[in-house]
Order: sequence, then C-alpha cells, then structure tokens
Amino acid sequence: TPKQDLRGLRVVVSAGPTREYLDPVRFISNPSSGKMGFAVAEEARDRGAQVTLVTGPVNLPDPAGMSVVHIESALQLHDAVVDAAQAADVVVMTAAVADYRAAEAATEKQAKVAGDVTIHLTPNPDILAELGRDKGARVLVGFAMETHAGVERAAGKAQRKNADFILLNYPTREGTAFGGDDNQVTLVRADGTHEDWPRTSKREVARRLLDEALRVRAARPQA
Ligand code: C5P
Repeated sequence: TPKQDLRGLRVVVSAGPTREYLDPVRFISNPSSGKMGFAVAEEARDRGAQVTLVTGPVNLPDPAGMSVVHIESALQLHDAVVDAAQAADVVVMTAAVADYRAAEAATEKQAKVAGDVTIHLTPNPDILAELGRDKGARVLVGFAMETHAGVERAAGKAQRKNADFILLNYPTREGTAFGGDDNQVTLVRADGTHEDWPRTSKREVARRLLDEALRVRAARPQA
C-alpha cells in the first residue's frame, strides 16, 4: 500500500468534458476522456484522502471509495465543485470545461432550416478563477492545453486564476493528453518557474501532482 500522506485531507477533483446543450439532442463538447482526473482521484484515495470526484460524461466506471458526482454542463460542474470545495484542502481542476454555452438552449429539437444558422454563445463562469478569488488555505491546481507559447500562457493563467500551479499538456503529442493512457506535462507555477516531466502514465503524473500539492501546502500557513 502507498504511503498515507494524504490522510485527513479532503481532495476535490473535476474530470472529463462538459456538454453544453443547444437543444435536447445536440450539444457542444470536447474529446476529454476523464482518464487524467480519475487517475488523480484514485491516487489521492489510495494515499488516504477523502475524495470527491465531479465528472462529466465519460466511459469510465465510478471508482470505489470516493464520492462521485455526475454532471453534464459547465454550470452544473460549477455548482458541484464550488459546493465540494468549501471544505476541501486541495482542488484539482482537470475537467475540460467548455468556455461557452448556448445563450438560450432550445427546449424542443430544432428543425433543419435552409441555409446558414447562427448560434449565440455566452461565456461560462471560470470555476478555477472563482475558487482562486476565495482561496483560503486551499491548494488550487489547474490544467492547460496549449498548441503554442505554452509555458508563458500557462504561467499567465496560473497568475490570473490564482492557482498554485498548472500542468501544461500538449494536444498534439502522440499517445498523450486526450484519451491516451500516458501524459507528458510541464509543471508551471504562477511565478513562471517550470519543470518538464517525462512522458509517463497518467497515474504517475497524478502521483507527482499530489507530491507538488503537498509541498505547496507545507509551505503555507494553515488557517
Ligand atoms: O483558461 P483555460 O480553460 O485554458 O484554463 C484551464 C484550467 O481552468 C483548467 O484547470 C480548467 O479545468 C479550468 N477552467 C475552469 N472553468 C472554465 C474554464 C477552465 O475551471 N470555465
């Protein structure tokens, strides 16, 4: 059994995609598999944490030994995470949250019309940024996927959202990120310092993530 170094801590993890419905049968989403977030939740559980996993629709069974909350939309994810975060020591936002939702989702299936259609989208709340505005003693961790200028953009995000660090991953590297069992990430702190981690399993990335979260926590006065 792994070391029980998270015993007594409450860890909240978000995972998977969100679905932003346009009408009852159509939605905007993304290919997030949930594997990275589930790996973080399972690793935290195995190290003794009390875990709440808030997940969008994924093809993974609910892990045992934790509280699992199923959501679809970014607004539902927001409410579930903000609620669970109140008592949390560590919050890891692994979910691939849709930036926009339909300004007015239709309650009936929309019929096809001739020619182009326009969909009016409105921004979703940034959950990580909101948690960052009322952070308390919590450790806040984000993920980011960038195709270019990754480290600078991720450091800017960590700073703007008041996250302690962000794991930057790359959508274009074979076998990693969306859907893969491996990941290759760069740890980027708000102060711009960063470390490339080797390509490894998502479970090993989760292990290192939680090690870093414990270091951040140890360096912070507790309320
Ligand atoms: O700004 P960007 O979406 O690249 O930031 C990614 C990080 O912010 C991820 O940790 C993601 O879960 C989180 N996020 C969020 N709410 C949003 C968008 C992203 O919490 N609306």
